[in-house]
Amino acid sequence: MVQEFDKVGVVGLGTMGAGIAEVFARAGFNVVGVEIDQAALDRGRGHVDKSLSRAVSKGKLTEEERSAIESRLTFSTSREDLSDADFVIEAVPERMEIKRDLFSDLDRICPPGTILATNTSSLSVTEIAALTDRPEKVVGLHFFNPAPVMKLAEVITTVSTSPETVDVVTEVAKRIGKTPITIGDRGGFVANALLVPYINDGIRLYERGIATREEIDESVKKAAGLPMGPLTLADLVGLDICLAVMDVLWEEFRDPRYSASPLLRRMVTAGRLGRKTGQGFYGGK
Ligand code: CAA
Repeated sequence: MVQEFDKVGVVGLGTMGAGIAEVFARAGFNVVGVEIDQAALDRGRGHVDKSLSRAVSKGKLTEEERSAIESRLTFSTSREDLSDADFVIEAVPERMEIKRDLFSDLDRICPPGTILATNTSSLSVTEIAALTDRPEKVVGLHFFNPAPVMKLAEVITTVSTSPETVDVVTEVAKRIGKTPITIGDRGGFVANALLVPYINDGIRLYERGIATREEIDESVKKAAGLPMGPLTLADLVGLDICLAVMDVLWEEFRDPRYSASPLLRRMVTAGRLGRKTGQGFYGGK
């Protein structure tokens, strides 16, 4: 079944979507990346270019391989170009009204057999599936930042997802070089339910003046051998995403461990979202 997969649609080409598009194109799929307007499309294409250039300059990719990957990638500002996609994954902003509009379009545009996946970190996959007339063909396929590098892909199923859909998506995740784990739809899924409260705890230490941001980050790197500390990781993931995951964990479990740090909330209100805005715990003024 997976062998018949050819055309993959990726909707939303921010940091995650561009990384996901690259991963599929590298694995040999023909990918159409869709963005809302030309400026966003150009930014998305820029993310992919930068990532491929980095791989070429490090000698990880030859110029020929790069050209082959690029030849499998097309870009569009029209969702209608997904009318012959076999599989579509979205990584648009984490707001249910945006997903609602998108999934009702995808349900209308894509053939009935097309599987629709969401890369959401914080919204309910069940709620997204219920927006369509094909909930059995809707799953979460959750990547980690940077998508071309991190090996885990969470396959999130709902009570409506068919076993065939799970099989196909799990197989696709393997074909793109990821290690899939299949899990039910619950706040934070698995990896974020562990990682984001840990990030939140790091922010609390900083907020209380227990240690500097550098000391907090270095502690974890030196003590536990992790590649980056919690505040650097918060900036990489995006503070808005961290807050959204904390809020969904709190809503679902009402456990004080899951209450978001006030500083995290204020940083998001102030628009300091981390690397994507140039200002987070690091960067900027
Ligand atoms: N795009 C593509 N490739 C990238 C990249 C990017 N944005 N950033 C780094 N890389 C590649 C580099 O090219 C390099 O590849 P090679 O090994 O083939 O040369 C490799 O990653 C290592 O990169 P660097 O040497 O430049 O830097 P590093 O060793 O400091 O690693 C890192 C960078 C991979 C980001 C590493 O610090 C790391 O693993 N950090 C933790 C990331 C993490 O925990 N992510 C999960 C966040 S949670 C999430 O995303 C889920 C959610 O829903 C919120």
